[in-house]
Amino acid sequence: MIARRVVAVLFVLAVAWVAWLWWDSRMPGLYSAAPADPSVAGHGAHAGADGAETRELASFVPDPQTRADARVELTARATTLTNEAGASFSGFTLNGVSPGPEIRVRQGDLVEVALTNADIEDGTTLHWHGVDVPGAMDGVAGVTQDAVMPGETFTYRFIAQDAGTYWYHAHQVSHAQVVGGLLGALIVEPAGESPDDAVMLLHTYPGGSRTIGGRSGETRRDAAPGTSVRVRAINTDDGTAFLWVPGTTTRVLAVDGTDLNEPGEIVDRRIRVAAGGRVDLEVAVPKDGAVRVQTQGASLVLGPDGATAPESPAPAEELDLLGYGTPAPTVLDGHAPDKSFDYVIGQRPGFLDGRPGYWWTVNGRMGRHVPAFAVREGDVVAVTIRNRSTEVHPMHLHGHHLLVLARDGVASAGGPWWTDSLDVEPGQSYDVVFLADNPGVWMDHCHNLPHAVEGLMTHVVYEGVTTPYLLGRASGNEPE
Ligand code: C2O
Ligand code: CU
Repeated sequence: MIARRVVAVLFVLAVAWVAWLWWDSRMPGLYSAAPADPSVAGHGAHAGADGAETRELASFVPDPQTRADARVELTARATTLTNEAGASFSGFTLNGVSPGPEIRVRQGDLVEVALTNADIEDGTTLHWHGVDVPGAMDGVAGVTQDAVMPGETFTYRFIAQDAGTYWYHAHQVSHAQVVGGLLGALIVEPAGESPDDAVMLLHTYPGGSRTIGGRSGETRRDAAPGTSVRVRAINTDDGTAFLWVPGTTTRVLAVDGTDLNEPGEIVDRRIRVAAGGRVDLEVAVPKDGAVRVQTQGASLVLGPDGATAPESPAPAEELDLLGYGTPAPTVLDGHAPDKSFDYVIGQRPGFLDGRPGYWWTVNGRMGRHVPAFAVREGDVVAVTIRNRSTEVHPMHLHGHHLLVLARDGVASAGGPWWTDSLDVEPGQSYDVVFLADNPGVWMDHCHNLPHAVEGLMTHVVYEGVTTPYLLGRASGNEPE
């Protein structure tokens, strides 16, 4: 029967095609994000432009001869932790605690952090989320260093150039190490001032509810009646957090470490903090009581001992940063972009490194076929991020700050909105721009960290910059 033969042949062809897709999706055992040696396959970008000199990533580091202004030693351990509901999970500590110690420095300080891995089998690293550190200090396993293995120490050095609210976290097997607690707050105080501030580090441990500084429910902090406190909220979770202050007005002073220009009073709005993002609020303590900063599942009460503060459900309306504050010139004014990229987020069935599933795509491509974005030092780079999937994605570019120009084609009408962790909702598009002034190889990924493992990840690679570190099964490095 001819028909049967045709069916059999088609079947064999279909199986062969799927097998080829599977084979083709597999990453090489070792590969580079920006190869120094062109025989080691990259995932898209060509680091060495023809004839241009190449620079190795390790050269981007503050002068090793200069003495640090602030030095911190951190020891990371794997351990069993207990969440507030009494359930235990395998987590991580730094110097015996999770969250790790708050690091507080002054703007302009040369900061040195020596990270020792006591016993984490997979190895670990520290990434300085939101700080535009030099290329070699970014803490991404397989891109800017090798994972720090048990018994080893790695020393980070960077200048805390910009005052603001930041955090640090593991960037080796980050989807497990971050939720497990390998993280902490990093505060850069403005030179010459010590603002009265309260850090509100939000984190949800496995199987638990949201905590503030590791404690669930209500956290209290002493504050004098009639004063105003800068509340530094840091969202270390994989999903969006909202903040609101019942019964009083507030102001957003800063987003992702950058102060806003003339932020106005906010009445009855919830304030979004994207995963990985930070928001600094101005919160007034009343003369006759306390004030509460709420988030889903936890709150921070500021006021004298015993004073009560009102509670409320989250306001239905959200503050829109696109129209908040007063316009002001920025360093990017008057520059036409030198390069423009689309970062289109989609989803489809296929193979990701040999595993079948329904995976994220970047510009329609998956896994090893996602190209890196190549830039040149000094470029003004415009990026349009389009979310064509059904979930929100908090997009995070390492080493740079993005200036938001427009959302869904509507231009920003408020103060300059600089971000490093930007929630892009399903169907939305954002036009952003950044100045390529920090040579290196930088991750550009979704900060819902399981999404990064599922392929929502690429790199921005500077022309002429190469890295000696390797990714892939055989490397021991697994940044996502
Ligand atoms: Cu908070 Cu790739 O990092
Ligand atoms: Cu995502």
